[in-house]
Formats: sequence, C-alpha cells, structure tokens
Amino acid sequence: MTVRNCALVRTILAAALCLAAADAAAQGKLKVGLMLPYTGTYAALGNAIENGFRLYVAEQGGKLGGMEPEYFKVDDESEPSKAVDNINKLIKRDNVDVVVGTVHSGVVMAMAKVAKDTNTLLVIPNAGARAVTGPMCAPNIFRSSFSNWQPGYAMGKVAGERGAKKVATITWKYAAGDESVEGFKDGLKAAGGEVVKDLTLPFPNVEFQALLTEIAATKPDAVYAFFAGGGAVKFVKDYAAAGLNKTIPLYGPGFLTDGTLEAQGAAAQGMLTTLHYGDGLDTPKDNAFRASYTRTYKAVPDVYAVQGYDAAQMLGIGLAAVKGDLAKRSELVAAMEKARIDSPRGTFTLSKSHDPVQDIYLRKVVGTENHVEGVAVKALADPSPGCKM
Ligand code: BEZ
Repeated sequence: MTVRNCALVRTILAAALCLAAADAAAQGKLKVGLMLPYTGTYAALGNAIENGFRLYVAEQGGKLGGMEPEYFKVDDESEPSKAVDNINKLIKRDNVDVVVGTVHSGVVMAMAKVAKDTNTLLVIPNAGARAVTGPMCAPNIFRSSFSNWQPGYAMGKVAGERGAKKVATITWKYAAGDESVEGFKDGLKAAGGEVVKDLTLPFPNVEFQALLTEIAATKPDAVYAFFAGGGAVKFVKDYAAAGLNKTIPLYGPGFLTDGTLEAQGAAAQGMLTTLHYGDGLDTPKDNAFRASYTRTYKAVPDVYAVQGYDAAQMLGIGLAAVKGDLAKRSELVAAMEKARIDSPRGTFTLSKSHDPVQDIYLRKVVGTENHVEGVAVKALADPSPGCKM
C-alpha cells in the first residue's frame, strides 16, 4: 500500500469511528470507558469502584440520564508508564464518550493530560492528585472522591488536638503519599505539632522492616502512614507485629483501614483514621445504599464503592440536564458544577476546581468496622492552588 493510500484508509477509519459514535448517541447509548486497576495492590479498589458505578446505573433502571451505558474496560495496573497508551485505547480505539478512572495518582496525571488535550470528559472516582484539580484543572475534568490533602489535613488536626507534638510519617514515595503527608503537616501545625521524621519507600514495595526499626529508634508521639489496598493490610499487620502499636499510636487517612479490616484483624483494633466515609453513619441514604450493595455483591461497601456510585451519579445529573445530547457539553458541565450530590457519605457539592467539598469524619476501628465517631472537619475544600477556572 502506498503512503497516500495509508493516509486515506486512516481518514476513512476515523470518519467511520465518528459516525459509529454519533449513531450510538443517537440510539441513546453512552460509551463509558472504565480505566481502573484490576490487578496489583489496588485491584480491590478498582473492582469496588466499578461495582458502585454499576449499582447506581442499575438503580436508575439500567440508564444514566436516560442513556444506556456500554462499558469498555482497561486494566491500568496502577502503572503510570502505561497510562497514556491505556487511555488512548479507550479514546482512540473504542471512541468512548466519557472516561471514568482511576485509583493511582501517578496514572491519573497522565490521563488528565490526554483528557485535556482531546477534550474528553473525565470523571475521577479515586485518585487524589492535587495537580489535576490544581494547575491542570479543566472544564472536562471532575472528581467524585477527594484530594489527597483533605483526609491528611483532618488527621493532622485531630492528632495535634490529641496531644501529638512530634510525629513521624511513612508512605509510598509518589504524589498520593507526598500530598497526604503535606495535608497532615498543615493540620498538625495548625494544632501545635510538628513532623520530626519523614520515611518513604517506592510504590508498591512492602518491605517495611528497616523503616519500622527507624520509627522505634525515633520514638515519636505518633506515626502517620499513607498506604492503601494490599499494602495497607501488610503495613498495619507489620506495625502491630513489631509491637509498635502498644506505645506509638498509628494514624492515617482512612485508606489505611478501608476495605482491609477483615485481613488486618486484631492488628487494626482501636486505630483512628479520617475519611469522607465510614461505617455507622445511619442515614436513610447510606442505609439504603449499603443494603442494596450488600444484596447485589454479597460484600460490605467501602469508600471506593461510594466514590464509584457517586461518579455515576454526577455523570447522570449532567446527562439528564442535556437529555443525553452530548454535543451540549457546556450545559452538561454547568449542571455537574451546580449539582448537590446525594451521596451515601452525606450530601456534597463541588468546588470551582471540581473537587468535592465534604465533611471529613473521624473513625475508630471496632471489629470489622471503621465506626464514625464524629466530624473531624466540616465541609472541607481543598484550596486547589494553581487552578485558574
Ligand atoms: C492515590 O494514588 O491517589 C490513592 C490511591 C489509593 C488510595 C487513595 C489515594
């Protein structure tokens, strides 16, 4: 085939894809790209997000804003180096109308750049990277979860108020850990404490022993740790096995104990964490959500399931406002911006940068529950430095 013929074939293919997408929309179909981790340390998080998303759709009679979703899935493996290729599979190959993803902050930053360049609607159901709703913020990028700074800030405030003056931090060395610790330091400083040691290891490494020895030698008043999924299970168990939980309270954002308590068992008992969701909220909305989720999946929902559920809910509000006419993008975006989302976590709104403005709860581990003890910080908004929307 000649170069000219190749170019012609490419043009015809692109036109055919465009026509197929227009045809799908005309028939009331919505092509949803799910880019989530289905393998690796964050696999359980990805599955819970997808479950939550599908549950909301099922509750709307299988439709979202009147459109019938058709799913296209990519396992992003929490691997930033594959993120551009992965999101392009959804945008260029599958020609999706919207991408929902992902969990890992490093992966989402690459996704957000592609979404911005191609003006693809992106709803982030977990990854808290501040940059995407900071300097990279854009009308087509929304988050149904949190910014990494939010739960960290709340935990810092609580730890300081409980008398922690000198604290050590430990996390995986990537955006989520760095920003979570940054939030913790801001909250702790405001409450009169300070961080005396920062410890890190590469994601998703779980060889904690040398760092636990360093914590024991430092003798801080408390430890703040950011880990999630399989890594969180291992860290909490190793911390207890080293005997550190007897003398040095272990604090963290709620990811440290969410969706992990069955596996952490006795090691996690009594731990305090902060998050925008928890067990025992006992509101009509949350009770109905939990009953429906448990009936459908034979599992108790966690924060990730809630974020997936709310990603669908946010999208549904936008689609309903334009009656499924995706060409009316600015009206769709305006409706999502104005929305009050009736979440199982409690009603929340979005900030100018499209981040949830939400209550952050203080939770205590009791058995297999992250029991809500109260509100640590009410209606907390990430200041979203650098966002010019
Ligand atoms: C993140 O990479 O942003 C993240 C991953 C798991 C839990 C919370 C945040």
